[in-house]
Amino acid sequence: MLEPGQLVMLVSPKGKRYFRILNPEEILNTNDGQLQMQKVMHRGFGSTVYTHLDREYTVLKPTLYDLIKSVKRRTQIIYPKDIGYIIVKLGIAPGTRVVEAGCGSGALTTALAWFVGDRGMVYSFERREDFASLCRENLEKIGLQSRVEIINSDIEHGFGPENVDALFLDVRTPWDYLDHIPRTLIPGGPVGFLLPTTNQVSSLLSAMENGPFSSVEVLEIIVRRYKPVPERLRPEDRMVAHTGYLIFARLGAPGTEPDENLELCLALQRNL
Ligand SMILES: C[S@@+](CC[C@H](N)C(=O)[O-])C[C@H]1O[C@@H](n2cnc3c(N)ncnc32)[C@H](O)[C@@H]1O
Repeated sequence: MLEPGQLVMLVSPKGKRYFRILNPEEILNTNDGQLQMQKVMHRGFGSTVYTHLDREYTVLKPTLYDLIKSVKRRTQIIYPKDIGYIIVKLGIAPGTRVVEAGCGSGALTTALAWFVGDRGMVYSFERREDFASLCRENLEKIGLQSRVEIINSDIEHGFGPENVDALFLDVRTPWDYLDHIPRTLIPGGPVGFLLPTTNQVSSLLSAMENGPFSSVEVLEIIVRRYKPVPERLRPEDRMVAHTGYLIFARLGAPGTEPDENLELCLALQRNL
């Protein structure tokens, strides 16, 4: 038996997914007929329930992966493979206060909200009102909105919160906003960026060379999926070859020398 207020995922016979915060009074209208949430509550996770047209739905507890994949999107989103590393590098955990921009559709926002828990806070900046609303809508659908303050503002005006534990930028020209970071992030705090092209990565690295950043890391994450057939185990024929580059650093304390790795990267680039 599930509790009212729990988040459930209902999977239709064709694989369509519905996310619901359990309300026993609700009757869900699906493409396969009406589904009583009272029944879902009584049957519990892993069970099957039937619509009034006798179509079978599976009741599951959604994972964060399910939630990210279900984000209604009107912008490019950050994918789970990248989000996993971002969370680990930024040290996002219960109680963390983190700034991100722009929130776009809210895929990363969803993951940040999931990990910061009820004691933490995500300050999510977005300059477009329609994307800020979409992100809010996506969070409300899964009950995570109380962990996120969506700020409909351009980060050229700076970030409001001070002494946050971590900061992440997914904007086209992050180098324009580096000067605002020391006023927001705790000294030595982790900062990350996602950029789709190497030209942008170079511009960012050049700008970071003039700022108080250390322990710079540039990487991309490539996932190779396999067909799960035991007797003919081999990779899928097609794969997503590129999503974006990830750049991480620590905000050095005032007076910190630029990082050796960064200088090495830049020297290598100049020699190419
Ligand atoms: C690629 S989307 C972000 C996607 C998001 N990280 C996700 O995982 O769903 C980039 C967003 O940054 C916003 N943006 C770009 N420049 C900005 C700025 N200077 N201030 C605030 N938001 C900005 C854009 O409007 C856009 O919605």
